[in-house]
Amino acid sequence: MATEKRCYLCAALVAPSVQEMREQMKVAYAQGADIVELRLDHLSQFEPAADLPLLLNGRPLPVIVTYRPFWEGGKYKGDEASRLDALHSAMLLGADFIDIELKAMPVFSAKMQDNKPNYCKVIVSNHNFETTPSADILVSLFKEIISSGADIVKIVTTAESITDVWKLFQILAISQLQVPTIALAMGEHGLISRLLCPKYGGFLTFGSLASGKESASGQPTLSDMRNAYGLQHVNKQTKVYGIIGKPVGHSKSPFIHNAAFRKVGHDGIYVPFLVDNVKDFLNVYNTSDFAGFSVTIPHKETALECCDEVDPLAKAIGAINTIVKRRNDGKLIGYNTDCEGAISAIEDGLRGMISSTGGSPLMGRYFVVTGAGGAGKALAYGAKDRGAKVFIANRNYDRAKSLADSLGGEALSLDQLNAFCPVNGMILANTTSLGMHPNISETPIAKDALRNYSLVFDAVYTPRYTRLLREAEECGAIVVSGLEMFIRQAMMQFSLFTGLNAPEQVMREKMASTSSYL
Ligand SMILES: *[C@@H]1O[C@H](CO)[C@@H](O)[C@H](O)[C@H]1NC(C)=O
Ligand SMILES: *[C@@H]1O[C@H](CO)[C@@H](O)[C@H](O)[C@H]1NC(C)=O
Ligand SMILES: *[C@@H]1O[C@H](CO)[C@@H](O)[C@H](O)[C@H]1NC(C)=O
Ligand SMILES: *[C@@H]1O[C@H](CO)[C@@H](O)[C@H](O)[C@H]1NC(C)=O
Repeated sequence: MATEKRCYLCAALVAPSVQEMREQMKVAYAQGADIVELRLDHLSQFEPAADLPLLLNGRPLPVIVTYRPFWEGGKYKGDEASRLDALHSAMLLGADFIDIELKAMPVFSAKMQDNKPNYCKVIVSNHNFETTPSADILVSLFKEIISSGADIVKIVTTAESITDVWKLFQILAISQLQVPTIALAMGEHGLISRLLCPKYGGFLTFGSLASGKESASGQPTLSDMRNAYGLQHVNKQTKVYGIIGKPVGHSKSPFIHNAAFRKVGHDGIYVPFLVDNVKDFLNVYNTSDFAGFSVTIPHKETALECCDEVDPLAKAIGAINTIVKRRNDGKLIGYNTDCEGAISAIEDGLRGMISSTGGSPLMGRYFVVTGAGGAGKALAYGAKDRGAKVFIANRNYDRAKSLADSLGGEALSLDQLNAFCPVNGMILANTTSLGMHPNISETPIAKDALRNYSLVFDAVYTPRYTRLLREAEECGAIVVSGLEMFIRQAMMQFSLFTGLNAPEQVMREKMASTSSYL
């Protein structure tokens, strides 16, 4: 009977003392780790004969004992014979796994020749701190590690771009019928190698106990791996989604989408994709496993070019924030849910204020957009689409003019905005970066001028209440925060990804709870 091997979550422990490492084992156990790695080389004082029993006796979880030498990126600088003696003692004292560097394997094999207990598995490891070699070189390395006598292969490289990680997934694919294998890429571009391990059949993946306690660069926390990404639920069938951006580490989208997938029972995982080149990324990660993408700055325009089909409104805007891989033919279809998210939030804000007469409450309204970048375009086209009379105000007048001309609106310079009041009850949508840190005292429009607006929207959501929104509220306008747009664009993405209604309450709760620690 074929039971699927599961990928273990291993807590990498880098405590400076034996006592702290013992404590950390308990924490790792409480956090749901399956295995712990004891990095002996991080102990400031270590006496194998006395300390190994302290570490191994009564341990709450299976352990990997690793004593990484300086020449393989570790902290141990002593002599090789004592190091290998300590590892051999750990093996005899009951360690479940021992990690031996490929280069040390010839000597270590000789040492354990007549004395290798069955319960102990040898992980033979190789680390590359500069780069990820070609697929061919990785395959040779993989074979070399197997023939060195490994029970488990461990290959760690450094990802210089996210496409490097694909080579490691290939190694995991060929390892499946041969030998349990760990294949990971360090660095921020390597994150998905750590998160998609269970999908590609890796033997284990490492997590840290807390941020700042990583044993290698790019390692996520154990708590995020379980609670945010739900790695314990990921298997070979799980569909992969994620957000393409640069930077992308701060994005809240993974928290929201993963929680939503779990709520409705959708077998998916949503990860951050740190992408330098969208075209290369989409070419490499274009298997049916990769089912949908969110797209953020700076890739919203280029990503559109990579799609096979693009929704007409998104095409007019010239930017997308969503790509769906169509199930029947694998084609990539682009959408812009930022636009719909913002416009529907504004419409609902207006509906709360005036009696609904059917149709969009934006019909015939004066709609002023500040900023002519991606978000400005989305708001302007969205408003135009609903029949509003659109004005674009921008620091650079020529950009305002060209956007206004492209959609049949009118342009203003930012200086003109304070005196602009053709009618009362206008709508203002702020998408400029004016007022962003460090220029926090700047604002696109004087407070007095806000009296002519009945609704003011701000595209940013951190802070939730910008100076603009505060002042608009004081002037009696309805205010709509970028948070509302963010939630709605995510809900629409969720529906495009899964074909299901988005679990709104969970998504809102996740957004609120992740915002509180920013
Ligand atoms: C992805 O694959 C689909 C189906 O084979 C193809 O239509 C599409 O052009 C590919 N896209 C990219 C960016 O490689
Ligand atoms: C704009 O607001 C000011 C201040 O409330 C008001 O005096 C003025 O009449 C308004 N302009 C229009 C066109 O309604
Ligand atoms: C809109 O204006 C406010 C001024 O208070 C600013 O802080 C905020 O960052 C602006 N919005 C955007 C999208 O940058
Ligand atoms: C802050 O203002 C300065 C001077 O106008 C400008 O050069 C800079 O780009 C602004 N910063 C942001 C984040 O908008």
